[in-house]
Amino acid sequence: MLEGTYPLARKLLFRLNPERAHDWSLAALRLAENCGVLKGLAGDSPGLAPVKCMGLTFPNRLGLAAGMDKEGNAIDAFGRLGFGFIEIGTITPRPQDGNPRPRLFRLPEHDAIINRMGFNNPGVTEGVANVRKTKGFQGVIGFNIGKNKDTPNEQAIDDYLICLREAWPVADYIAVNLSSPNTPGLRDLQGPEPAARLLDRLQSERDILLRETGRQVPLAIKVAPDLQTGEIRALSRVFLDQGLDALIATNTTVERPEVGAHPSHAEAGGLSGAPLTKNSTEVISRFHDDLGDRIPIIGVGGIMSAVDAAEKLSAGATLLQLYTGFIYHGPKLIREILNSSAVSAS
Ligand SMILES: Cc1cc2nc3c(=O)[nH]c(=O)nc-3n(C[C@H](O)[C@H](O)[C@H](O)COP(=O)(O)O)c2cc1C
Repeated sequence: MLEGTYPLARKLLFRLNPERAHDWSLAALRLAENCGVLKGLAGDSPGLAPVKCMGLTFPNRLGLAAGMDKEGNAIDAFGRLGFGFIEIGTITPRPQDGNPRPRLFRLPEHDAIINRMGFNNPGVTEGVANVRKTKGFQGVIGFNIGKNKDTPNEQAIDDYLICLREAWPVADYIAVNLSSPNTPGLRDLQGPEPAARLLDRLQSERDILLRETGRQVPLAIKVAPDLQTGEIRALSRVFLDQGLDALIATNTTVERPEVGAHPSHAEAGGLSGAPLTKNSTEVISRFHDDLGDRIPIIGVGGIMSAVDAAEKLSAGATLLQLYTGFIYHGPKLIREILNSSAVSAS
C-alpha cells in the first residue's frame, strides 16, 4: 500500500522545500507507526537469511544510512519498512543547530542530493533517551557519533569518548564518523596518524567499558569516497592494527561527478545518490583488496537499484545502507533490494 502511494507522495513532497519535506515525512512515518498503520509491512520478503557481522546477527543485509533519522526517534517506523538495521545520528556530545538554511538541495535530474546539514542533532543524552524509547524494532541499531563543530580537532578525541561512553548501553554498534564534509576539519581525522591515535584511545575505553558493563559493542569507522589509493592503503593498515570491527564506505563526496551543469552543483556540501554510485563502489573494492575478509565492509553510496546493491556486494561489502535512493524511490526500493537474489542469498 505504502509502496503504491509513494510516487504521488513524492510528487507532493518534491514541491516542498527539501528540509521541510524531510521533517514532514519523518513526522508522518512516526504517526503512522504510532497509529499501528505500519504493522505487518515488513513481513513479505520470503527467504531472507540472517547475516552475521561484527559478532551481531542482522535480520537482513540492508540498513538505513546515518543522517535520515539523526535523532533516533523513528527507529520503529523505519524498521517496519523492512530495514534490517538502522544507523541513527550523527550525534555529538552537545546539541547543535547545524549550518544555516538552506542546507539541503535536490538535483532530481541526477537522482542526487547535496547537503551541508552540519550535524544538526539533539546531543547524545537525548539521542540515547530516544533509543531507549524504541519499542518493537527487532533489528540492529547503530549509533553514529561525531564531534561538535566548536570542538577543535586537538580535542576531538574527548568528544568521541563522551559519545562512546553514553551510547554504549543502548547501541548495538557504534559508528565513528570521520568523513562528513560539513564539519570543518573533520576529514583531517581520517589521516592515518590521527585515525590511529583516535582508534587507540577508543579501543582502550572499550576495554574499560567491557570490564565495567560486561557488554561488548563493536566499533565501525565511516570513511569518505574521496580517498586516494595510497590513503586507503595506509588507513587499511591502521584499521587492521587496531582490530576495527567494521568499515562503513562511504559518506558523501565533495567532488561533483556528472552534475556540473546543474544549477545547484556549486552548493557547498556532500553529494549523494546516483552520481556517487561508481566512486563509492570503487572505494569499497579498494578497501576490500587490502582488508580481505578480516574487516567487514558496510557498503553505502548511491544504491538506487537492486543492481547497484549487488555491485556493492560483489565489490566486497557484507552489509548495505542507503539514504538518497529512499528519497527518490521510496519503500519500493527496500523491497526490490531485499527480494533480489544477490541480497537474499545467504
Ligand atoms: C541529508 C543527508 C544527511 C546526512 N547526514 C549524515 C550524518 O549525519 N552522518 C553520516 O555519517 N552520514 C550522513 N549522510 C551520508 C549518508 O549516510 C550516506 O553515507 C551518503 O548519503 C551516501 O549514501 P546515499 O547515496 O545512499 O545517500 C547524510 C546524507 C544526506 C543526504
